[in-house]
Amino acid sequence: MRQRKVKNEEEKIARYNHWIVEEPTDRKGRWSEAFDEACDGAALCSSTAGAGASMGEREKDAATPELYLEIGCGKGKFITEMARRHPDRRYVAVEGAGTVVLRALEKAAGVRATILEDDDVLADGDDDGRDERYEHVGRDERAEELIVGEPLNNIRFITDYVQTLGDIFEKGEIRGIYLNFSDPWPKERHAKRRLTHRKYLTEYRKILSPGSILEFKSDNDDLFQFSAQEFYNFGLEILELTDDLHGVLTGPLVPTVVTDQQGTPVKLPGPGEGAALSAQVTTEYEDRFTEAGKNVHYCRVRF
Ligand SMILES: C[S@@+](CC[C@H](N)C(=O)[O-])C[C@H]1O[C@@H](n2cnc3c(N)ncnc32)[C@H](O)[C@@H]1O
Repeated sequence: MRQRKVKNEEEKIARYNHWIVEEPTDRKGRWSEAFDEACDGAALCSSTAGAGASMGEREKDAATPELYLEIGCGKGKFITEMARRHPDRRYVAVEGAGTVVLRALEKAAGVRATILEDDDVLADGDDDGRDERYEHVGRDERAEELIVGEPLNNIRFITDYVQTLGDIFEKGEIRGIYLNFSDPWPKERHAKRRLTHRKYLTEYRKILSPGSILEFKSDNDDLFQFSAQEFYNFGLEILELTDDLHGVLTGPLVPTVVTDQQGTPVKLPGPGEGAALSAQVTTEYEDRFTEAGKNVHYCRVRF
């Protein structure tokens, strides 16, 4: 769907430079440095500078925190909530669409929204159909930001579309990957673009430590069916799977079926602790589908 365009998008994104990793390939094998760097003095991150420095001090003698990756974070609700819930972990969020990554950056910075001037919205048609027109909650409607929460210093962003990952992360540098409501690419000729295609699974294997986890949520029956079969064919262990994470579906369910090489359906596990936790931390898309009574598929697999 058409995204709302934000005037001076690049300029607005640049305000959150503290959270953006400009040259991710330079960080390969050294991602902890991206989190230990102190704030460059920009107003928005000044309150995280101390947090960053003290974290760096604290961690000198401690083990490096585990690093988790979300590809296609959209407006960032899921990954910023994960970062908030797990201050002992670190997160890298990847998002190629500037309009939405701006929202994610605002969440990481603890800013509710950039308050825009009237002509700032150039094109309407927000992806989720809601009018998220910026809330003029401040006294001064032309104020640039409204600080509403503590900035997060355990999250960084790659503001680009990624295709390869082995050039960005070292083998074993990532402990877990989240894919939430990934673009379905329904046409067969576009199958390789699906983030659960074996081409991407090969990339994930290059950067994950053995035994690491991938969690995948989707509203799309066909993409989920494709993905579960792809996981199985790739030799990943399906640890948990549910076709209705939130138990909201009233109509008939299309159950996911995975078959072995002989075409015989394999027994799939049900939901467990992972599903229960995942149901608590939702994405913008997930909220929208759940409110509409559409089931959300979830699975957790081990590499
Ligand atoms: C359907 S949206 C879902 C957003 C969010 N995860 C949610 O559930 O609300 C998929 C997002 O993934 C992003 N995306 C798709 N492929 C990507 C890639 N290879 N690298 C970075 N972002 C990607 C798109 O720009 C889009 O914002």
